[in-house]
Amino acid sequence: MSPETAATAAYIVAALLTVMSLAGLSKHETARNGVVYGIAGMTVALVATVVLAANSLEAGAVALMVAGFVIGGGVGLWRARVVEMTGMPELIALLHSFVGLAAVLVGWNGYLEVEAVGAAQTTVAPELLGIHSVEVGVGVFIGAVTFTGSIVAYGKLSGRMKSRPLTLPGKNALNLSALVAFAALTVAFVLAPSLGVMIAITAVALALGWHLVASIGGGDMPVVVSMLNSYSGWAAAASGFLLNNTLLIVTGALVGSSGAYLSYVMCQAMNRSFLSVIAGGFGVESGTAAADVEGEHREVQADEVAEMLREASSVVITPGYGMAVAQAQYPVADLTRKLRDKGVEVRFGIHPVAGRLPGHMNVLLAEAKVPYDIVLEMDEINDDLASTSVVLVIGANDTVNPAAMDDPGSPIAGMPVLRVWEAKNVVVFKRSMAVGYAGVQNPLFFRENTSMIFGDAKKRVEDILTAL
Ligand code: TAP
Repeated sequence: MSPETAATAAYIVAALLTVMSLAGLSKHETARNGVVYGIAGMTVALVATVVLAANSLEAGAVALMVAGFVIGGGVGLWRARVVEMTGMPELIALLHSFVGLAAVLVGWNGYLEVEAVGAAQTTVAPELLGIHSVEVGVGVFIGAVTFTGSIVAYGKLSGRMKSRPLTLPGKNALNLSALVAFAALTVAFVLAPSLGVMIAITAVALALGWHLVASIGGGDMPVVVSMLNSYSGWAAAASGFLLNNTLLIVTGALVGSSGAYLSYVMCQAMNRSFLSVIAGGFGVESGTAAADVEGEHREVQADEVAEMLREASSVVITPGYGMAVAQAQYPVADLTRKLRDKGVEVRFGIHPVAGRLPGHMNVLLAEAKVPYDIVLEMDEINDDLASTSVVLVIGANDTVNPAAMDDPGSPIAGMPVLRVWEAKNVVVFKRSMAVGYAGVQNPLFFRENTSMIFGDAKKRVEDILTAL
């Protein structure tokens, strides 16, 4: 068997493992297997690529390639080991930016090898040159949009950039003109490839990616991350066409389409229009000028909360990002056990975008051994909140903000929320009156049946445990 045939066979195996990985990841019980299939698929693909290269390239080039794998793999392993759960979304965004950058470099390489040297000196058949130029233009465009879009998403998620949406005048017109400019430049590039047009395509795409994500408010970031996941898949597929690599085309298309589907599902969960996400800056039409909320809040201490819980017949805990930051899941699990032992019904209400990544709260609660059957989704618990004695909001903010339902001017207007304010008593655990991720004030804190308990969530829950 020639090395090419062996590599093609290995690529088919790797593609199948990718399909099995995605299928495994779609269910809780099979997710671990999904990860193993994914690792196996990547290993097969990498080994096949090196073996194939070793047959056709000089030793120096192969050594460079292996060094790249070792350095890249080492950095990847190190980062993945040290990353906190709360830092996962920004790490994912950063990794998407690498895929985008790789696609841009592959595109530029395609240009330098073919269009820049002229038809006579390349292996591309003259009748296929036009198609090659389209592939270069599209690959560079998708890659560059993904690259800067992911960098901005990384900046917003890690708090290095403000999460407020950028609202340039005529932002939709700007996005549309960038698309029209890209189409026109690609036609120009096919007719007469030149360095100037390549630079122009790259610059337009870099600016568009930046603007698309900068225009989106922090609260809508989860959808953006999955959208960029999709873009990175399409960028990889575009590189696959240029490199004539079927595995990249297949896996890129799988990632692209599954990311697009995930974005669609998340849009539905957050009541956002899928088309406006893709167009960038969705949710902004509703304005950023949410009415300033003012009022008096009531502060309570741990012993008062303990008293409230002692008298409660049912308790719902709605955790959010603050629980993850404080690592409060362990005392929260202890509190749950203690209350259940006293005969209090305790359940958890999990918002689909609570925390910073899908399933964030479920992972933390499972880690602390909270029984799975009392952890309910938002839609399963929302109608029961009105008959609940006490809701404990532990480090959640945007996901319990009534402004999403009451204030059409709010940046999070229309996003479904946990209706915690319908309960008899609400206790909010946070350190200050600061806003949540989306940067909007929360009128819940000023409601009559709401009390605030300030301080680190872990310490405050421990204080309540002691008082109980
Ligand atoms: P957030 O709105 O982010 O609010 C978290 C709250 O926790 C803050 O108000 C903060 O208040 C408090 N907090 C932080 N550290 C704390 C600590 N050590 N002890 C006690 N409280 C602490 O939380 P959420 O309700 O979970 O909403 C998630 C937000 O993130 C949504 O806007 C969502 O769209 C966005 N987002 C979600 C995802 C996914 S997929 N889940 C991904 C990216 C972004 P203080 O500073 O006053 O303590």
